[in-house]
Amino acid sequence: MTLDIPLADAPKSTANIMPDAQTVTSVQHWTDTLFSFRVTRPPSLRFRSGEFVMIGLPDERGKPILRAYSIASPNWDDELEFYSIKVPDGPLTSRLQHIKPGDQIILRPKPVGTLVLDALLPGKRLWFLATGTGIAPFASLLRDPETYERYEQVILMHTCRKVAELEYGRELVEGLKDDPLLTEIYGDSFADRLLYYPTATREEYPRRGRITDNLASGKVFADLGLPAMNPADDRAMVCGSMALNLDVTKVLEGFDLREGANSDPREFVVEKAFVGEGV
Ligand SMILES: Cc1cc2nc3c(=O)[nH]c(=O)nc-3n(C[C@H](O)[C@H](O)[C@H](O)COP(=O)(O)OP(=O)(O)OC[C@H]3O[C@@H](n4cnc5c(N)ncnc54)[C@H](O)[C@@H]3O)c2cc1C
Ligand SMILES: NC(=O)c1ccc[n+]([C@@H]2O[C@H](COP(=O)([O-])OP(=O)(O)OC[C@H]3O[C@@H](n4cnc5c(N)ncnc54)[C@H](OP(=O)(O)O)[C@@H]3O)[C@@H](O)[C@H]2O)c1
Repeated sequence: MTLDIPLADAPKSTANIMPDAQTVTSVQHWTDTLFSFRVTRPPSLRFRSGEFVMIGLPDERGKPILRAYSIASPNWDDELEFYSIKVPDGPLTSRLQHIKPGDQIILRPKPVGTLVLDALLPGKRLWFLATGTGIAPFASLLRDPETYERYEQVILMHTCRKVAELEYGRELVEGLKDDPLLTEIYGDSFADRLLYYPTATREEYPRRGRITDNLASGKVFADLGLPAMNPADDRAMVCGSMALNLDVTKVLEGFDLREGANSDPREFVVEKAFVGEGV
């Protein structure tokens, strides 16, 4: 990290500006622009799967640099997982990408967000539509048994430019098939209830194309053997760039689904995966 010393050994003054410090327990680098990490969970932190918190690091002068991050682990997990971009000159991630087990990060324990099960009306199928790091809130919801209690089928569409950027999601889904908690509750047929539709847009891959195009053309329904989306059966959560969110909203509205919120549950909800135009 750009700090000269590991955070765990930071000067005592750091403790004063890190009242919400948590300890990093593991770090995994997926590509040169993506990594995930786990930290200790404050015992008092309660959250709904899909919510986000503010996390950060102190700058050179000890002032916290805080950013919104979706919690990627489910609400029953003892630790918290995050999945992060590495922005080359990003105030936070140019530092955060260098964390190691034993380092400390700041975590403000006030979870919020729209991508929660309570923000949707009951239905038959739940669609998770994500690009890039927008998969993070769904990594939480996919590991939460309540998701499968509420919906007969769960479909994850994850789209990235490059194949390597899909790997975090692919391993997550692969691991779910043997998830001890989910298979104990739902039995061996559990895996059949989860459909995974990864696509790459700028490299060769078995499935190609943007989420918007694969929904609007009906290709994803044909490929998965599902009926076209309809407001009686289908619910959706969307997490990506502003452009993706706006374009997917139009497509979902074309299927007569309506956008909802915590206070007004409807057929779909949307959240930004980041603010701004891009790296
Ligand atoms: C509700 C919410 C949840 C978020 N959850 C996550 C998360 O789980 N994982 C995560 O990596 N980021 C997430 N972000 C983005 C995060 O808050 C920071 O913007 C990111 O960590 C980069 O911080 P930075 O200080 O290095 O750069 P910033 O100054 O924050 O951003 C610099 C540039 O990088 C672009 N950028 C920022 N984040 C991303 C991203 N994730 N993917 C592509 N481009 C990006 C921005 O558009 C901006 O142009 C979330 C943002 C919001 C609003
Ligand atoms: N990831 C990289 O390799 C890379 C390289 C250089 C720069 N960047 C910068 O980093 C930023 C973030 O990159 P990112 O790849 O994480 O995010 P991104 O640009 O939002 O792309 C992620 C995925 O979403 C798709 N997408 C983008 N806009 C869409 C829309 N309006 N509707 C439907 N699908 C849409 C992209 O398809 P398309 O491929 O068809 O756009 C891509 O597959 C970019 O904005 C870019 O400025 C990224």
